[in-house]
Order: sequence, then structure tokens, then C-alpha cells
Amino acid sequence: MDELVALCKRRGFIYQSSEIYGGLQGLYDYGPLGVELKNNLKMTWWVSMVYERDDIEGLDASILTHSDVLKHSGHEDTFTDPLIDCKSCGLRFRSDQIPEQCKDEELTEPRDFNLMFKTNVGPIDDGSSFAYLRPETAQQIFINFKNIVDSTSQSLPFGIAQIGKAFRNEITPRNFIFRVREFEQMELEFFVKPGTDEEWHKKWVDSRLEWWINQGIPKNKIELQTIEGNELSHYSKSTIDIMYKFPHGLEELEGIANRTDFDLGSHSKNQNEFNITSKVIENKASNAKLAIQDLDSKEWVIPYVIEPSAGVDRGVLAVLNEAFNIEKLPDGKERTVLSFPRHLSPIKAAVVPLKKNNNDIVEKAKEIKNRLQKCQLGRVVIENTGNIGKSYRKHDEVGTPLCITVDFDTLDKGTVTVRDRDTMKQDVIDQSKIVDYFSNYFKQ
Ligand code: GLY
Repeated sequence: MDELVALCKRRGFIYQSSEIYGGLQGLYDYGPLGVELKNNLKMTWWVSMVYERDDIEGLDASILTHSDVLKHSGHEDTFTDPLIDCKSCGLRFRSDQIPEQCKDEELTEPRDFNLMFKTNVGPIDDGSSFAYLRPETAQQIFINFKNIVDSTSQSLPFGIAQIGKAFRNEITPRNFIFRVREFEQMELEFFVKPGTDEEWHKKWVDSRLEWWINQGIPKNKIELQTIEGNELSHYSKSTIDIMYKFPHGLEELEGIANRTDFDLGSHSKNQNEFNITSKVIENKASNAKLAIQDLDSKEWVIPYVIEPSAGVDRGVLAVLNEAFNIEKLPDGKERTVLSFPRHLSPIKAAVVPLKKNNNDIVEKAKEIKNRLQKCQLGRVVIENTGNIGKSYRKHDEVGTPLCITVDFDTLDKGTVTVRDRDTMKQDVIDQSKIVDYFSNYFKQ
């Protein structure tokens, strides 16, 4: 993990937030390469959910959330960690994380601490007008259920997908970007007919497992874990976690929960009109019925919900961890390489002029860069250091799959040299074919 953290900082993937002022714990900033990697992961998820299927719609809802939403979702009452104060050192700990040196007689009884962040809305700062920073993106999906049903032609089963920030005031953020206070989620709420929920739950576990494998996470480093008893969230009938062997241990990458009719039921008025099966929270504030007409029976039903909920930052950490390699080369030297799957690489190609100060070569390199950039496959850069070996090493270390060198032969014969990150093989090709070569490479 230490080597990965150092590489992330050195090469512009991830920095500690507010670093020049001493840092703010549990918060990180994504640099020039980090933002590309993260965007690529999110876009891959979005394409697989929204574009490649016909039964899922997208949403981008607000982060600041009405307190009634989080009251009726159960978060105001139950989204807590038990905390213990140490009277001797004045610090506060989660009850399962008390340091050994704290003596029992110095510890208070555990008290529930709500993990949601609050902020004032409007100019008055007396606590009378506040909103929460959402602790999960899911609630905005539930409260927009009727808007989306009314404005699209979806019927059951169908889903709503959202990617966005969520916030939790973690007591002990830790393990780099694994457990942080501000993070991103990729969440799907998939609405199904009651009675078909268990079948859909299984389908989504299989589908999400396959998706992670396609992001370069090997199957042998993933385990499925069934969450049971007290460990289940207050809304869940059953949850399966996709666990990944992170550098710090086996931890959750994504949870797939059967949230039943709890959330839509809890946000609905006149709850007695429906055949709700879960223990909903009584609601006198909502003016909506979050129900849908069953096309066969014509009955209005509150659907069950299957929720695959993935952490973007955890995903980035897993992808980085799998891509990170220090390889022994045949000449005895070592190279550090990030072997990302091609579609996730932050930079798709680097165009390298052989001579830094040769105007004709540099201009030709810029022209090729612009042609490749127009393919819209991701970021293409000019790497004008004048040192080919150094350029290759740098781009191995940031995971760029292709380096394209422009040299005197490009000017004389119209050829460029394409070097592959993984095989380190070099192909000389005619520059008129470079756009096709590049596009085909990323189709594979
Ligand atoms: N929406 C599930 C979670 O945030 O844990």
C-alpha cells in the first residue's frame, strides 16, 4: 500500500486533501491522472448500466438533502456508530476500536453518534434550517421514483442508476481512499415485482461479479460474503457483499442488498392502501405514493428494490492495486508498470517527439496527437522531454498502453514507431494508418 500511495502522489493520481495546511483526515483529491482513471471507471459502469440496457434510466440528483428524507429513510435514527470517550486522553473511539493502552475505568459507556454531516441552508445560522449531505445516493433515487415513472415509459422490472458523492463522518477514516468521509458511489436501484426479488437479487450478484472481473479484478481475489443478523442494514432483507483482497485485507468492494419495499413504502403517504410487507416508518410529511401499476393485474404496487451499490474510490483502489507491478526485465533491470485494462488507462497514448527542439518533429507530433484526440477514446498527450527511454518509463508507470514516437523517418518516410506498454514491442507503421491502429487497439 505504501508504494502505491507514493506512486499515486508522485505521478498525479491522488493527493491528501488540504495538504499545504496539514491535511484534512479522510479526504483526498484526485489529480490529473486520478480524475481520468476515476472517470473511466464511472463511465464504464454508466455504459454497462444505462446505455447497454433498455431497462435502466439515469439520474443526477442534489447532494443536500431535506431532513424529512433522511428521517423517513431511517438514517436519522439508525445511521450511527457506538462511540466511547477516553476520559484520560480526551479522544473518542468506535467501541470496536479501543486502543489497548486505554484502561477500562477511563472509558465511558458507548453512545450512538450519527454519521451524517449537517449544514445550514440559507443565511440563518441558528440550526432552524439545515440539510444533510446525503449519506448514500440511493435516497434521491427513491424520492424521484414517481418523477421517473411519469416521465419515461418504464414498467416493472426497471432500474434507476446514479453516480455521485456521499458523505459519512467516519470516526476513524483509514486505509488511504478505502474508508473516507467524502466519497463517490455508483448505485443502481432496480425495482421488481414483489415475489421476484430473490431471483433478481441473484442475477444482480452474478452480473456485478462479472463486471468487476472485466475491470481487471481477478476472480481468485474476490469472495462473496452473505451479511447476516445484526450486520444487516436496517432496510435490508438480505445482502451479499463482493469482497476483494485489498492490500490491507479482505473488505467490501460492493454490496448488493434486497431493500424490499422499505424505502418506497417509508416515503409514501397513505401507507395502509398498499400491501407493504416491510416495517415501514410512519409518514405524515410526504405527499406522494411511490407505487406503480402492475401491467398484468392493473393493481398499484410498491415494488421491491434490489440495490447493487459500489464505492467508486474503493474501485479505483482495487484497480490500481491490481494494475501495480514491479517487473524484472531480461537485462536485470526493473520497471514499474501499471497494467490497467486498456479502457481504464488514464492516458490512452503518448506521442513522443524524438528531438525536443526540432520544430518539424514537434509540429508533426502535435498534428498526430490532435488526430488521435479526435477519436474521443480518452486523453492523448504530447510527451516532449527529448528522452525516449525516460518517456517510456514514465508512461509504463502511469499505465499508458501506447507510446508513438515521431522521428526523422516520420518526416522522410512518413512512418511512426508504436511501442506497446505490456509487450514493450515496437511496430513501425505508416502514419496514415495511425488513427485506425489506435481505434482498433481500443476495440479489442
Ligand atoms: N446505499 C447503500 C449504502 O450506501 O451503503
